[in-house]
Order: sequence, then structure tokens, then C-alpha cells
Amino acid sequence: FPAEDFRQNLIEWFKKEQRTLPWRENQDPYRVWVSEIMLQQTKVETVIPYYENFLRQFPTLEDLASADEQEVLKAWEGLGYYSRARNLQTAVKEVVAEYDSKVPDTVREIGSLQGVGPYTQGAILSIAYDLPVPAVDGNVMRVLSRILLVDEDIAKQSTRKLFEALVSSLISSEDPSSFNQGLMELGAIVCTPKSPSCLLCPVQDHCRAFHKGIENELPVKSSK
Ligand code: ADE
Repeated sequence: FPAEDFRQNLIEWFKKEQRTLPWRENQDPYRVWVSEIMLQQTKVETVIPYYENFLRQFPTLEDLASADEQEVLKAWEGLGYYSRARNLQTAVKEVVAEYDSKVPDTVREIGSLQGVGPYTQGAILSIAYDLPVPAVDGNVMRVLSRILLVDEDIAKQSTRKLFEALVSSLISSEDPSSFNQGLMELGAIVCTPKSPSCLLCPVQDHCRAFHKGIENELPVKSSK
């Protein structure tokens, strides 16, 4: 697999075609963190106004840490999965108290925070800190299952681990942020679940599923 060519095509495409989104304005780890928590179970279009309002109301880690829980939950109202908001505030308080209000930049420390799982760790470390750590969500598994023709069940934990290992071996050390966000963005706007736009894909040449005409058969997902 021509990894360097794949990386270059993906990153170049991302830089040119990425959507303008409010959490892409800068690399502030707090802002990246809030966006990734909101985006976990909620669509981009829905998240945008909530994200903008939340950052207006709680512009910094310290503002969120010292806020009244009810106010935080109220700002989250309509997004659902309210444990996300509670965990976020708990974790932010810990960052203020234990890490001098600086979001930690190691897998070990950031992964110990409430509500920060492997995906969120990788997203924050790569996007905010430019560290080469995988950030594998459903979008990324779909994209890579097609490109590399992986037919393992993506509902299984072991398959996510497999994809994390694959991304670790493929990720750009030069621009891990654009690499991870490129995979996410490709999954969101080109390599969609139904009828992917393969003719517009920057890595079509590298896609084993496209070459076999089986992009619609992947990923494999059991309904357990
Ligand atoms: N989905 C998850 N993370 C995202 C991001 N940073 N940008 C767009 N969509 C996403």
C-alpha cells in the first residue's frame, strides 16, 4: 500500500475542501474538546449553533469549571445525552485543579479524564497538539474498511483496535491533524454510508473496495 501517496492526497484534499466549521477556527484544546464531545452522538448541522452558544457562555475552561451545573445542562438542552455535559464539566474541573488549567497532552493523562475515551483522546491530541495519535470513530472505520477492504465487524471492540493500529501505521508525522480530520471529513462528505461519491474521492486510486465495485457492501456491521 502506497502510504505516502495516500497521506499526501488525503491531506491536500482536506486543506482545499474542508468545510468552514466554528471549531476549526483555531487549535485551542478546550474548544476542540467541546466540539468533539458534542459531535460524538450529534450531527454537525445540529452541533454548530449549540457549540457557538456554549463557547459564548463558557469561553474558557475556567468559566466552565466554575459554572453552575444547571446552567451547563441548560446550554446542552436539545443536544441530548446529558451525561456528556456532566462528564465534560467534571473533567474540566479536574484540569483546572490538577493540571493548572492546561489540557494535558499525553494519552495517559487525557485518557484518565471523565468522558474522554480513545476517540476523543486522539482527536484532541492530534487536532490541538499535532501529535500522531489515531482518532477512530464510525466514519473513519467506514472509510478505511473500504480503502483497505477490511470486512471485520465494526461493532466489535477488536475491530476498532485493528483500525487504531492501522491508523497508527498510516498517520502522517508531519500533519497528524489534517490526516485525522481528512479521514473524518472524507467520511462525512464523500465516503458516505449510502452511495458514496467515489468519482470525487481524492484517494479513489487507493481504494480496494472501489476497484472491486463493492463500496456499498462495506463496512460490515452486525446489529448486536
Ligand atoms: N465529527 C467528529 N469530529 C469532527 C470534526 N472535528 N469535524 C467534523 N466532523 C466531525
